[in-house]
Amino acid sequence: MSVIIKVLGLSASPRRGATEHSLAVALEELDKFNRIEYQMITLRKFNTYQCIHCDRCIREEEKYCLVNEDSELAELYEKFYQADGYLLASPVYQMNYTGQLACFFNLLRPAWNILKDDRAYFWDKVGAAIAVGGTRHGGQELTINAIHNFYHNYGITVVGGNFAYNGGTIWSRDNKKKGAAADTEGLKTIKAIADRLALALYSQQGGKEFFKEAYQKISSQVKELA
Ligand SMILES: Cc1cc2nc3c(=O)[nH]c(=O)nc-3n(C[C@H](O)[C@H](O)[C@H](O)COP(=O)(O)O)c2cc1C
Repeated sequence: MSVIIKVLGLSASPRRGATEHSLAVALEELDKFNRIEYQMITLRKFNTYQCIHCDRCIREEEKYCLVNEDSELAELYEKFYQADGYLLASPVYQMNYTGQLACFFNLLRPAWNILKDDRAYFWDKVGAAIAVGGTRHGGQELTINAIHNFYHNYGITVVGGNFAYNGGTIWSRDNKKKGAAADTEGLKTIKAIADRLALALYSQQGGKEFFKEAYQKISSQVKELA
């Protein structure tokens, strides 16, 4: 297999704390695997504003939101479109992911301009999730499930399972990096989910040519169903 597999690691915390640390640990775990290249991006550095459903992106057939013409944000979405794998990490806010991540997801509405011509655009991509809560059972699993629902919405293959259950979970005790680093049990799940992502990406990407060939056979039915 000669392909390079690109993983986008995205932290959805508005600050430099436990989530960024946990995501960094997960991405370092990917160093074990040849052929995987990763990039860590933190949403706090971007102006992720709310989608106002103006549909300008749809009318103008653009791949990025046109409301705030922000080239850095467009670059971020281009990275999202180009990645093979995703590791999305969010703090738990009200037993869910953060507002920043909700905004990021909603600004993906222009992805429709890709999907209308290629319904399977995201189908050979793989996603995993990490949630970091201040309390021990503060909604980490629910937050991961909510991120999984986003993946399902785009047909991105979701990985979880085995030792990491549905994803990587950290109990930070509201103590930023220090708190995350002290959760040794949680860090095991962080490494486990990164490993699962790598293995899934290997099997998915190794079989990409087969995937495309198989998809050709069903693409007309897929378009009829939509
Ligand atoms: C608005 C808000 C809501 C929160 N809600 C929860 C919650 O429902 N469950 C929980 O365990 N922790 C909750 N927390 C605590 C954070 O999840 C926790 O401190 C986390 O480690 C923050 O990650 P960070 O250090 O990367 O920013 C909340 C924090 C804030 C600011």
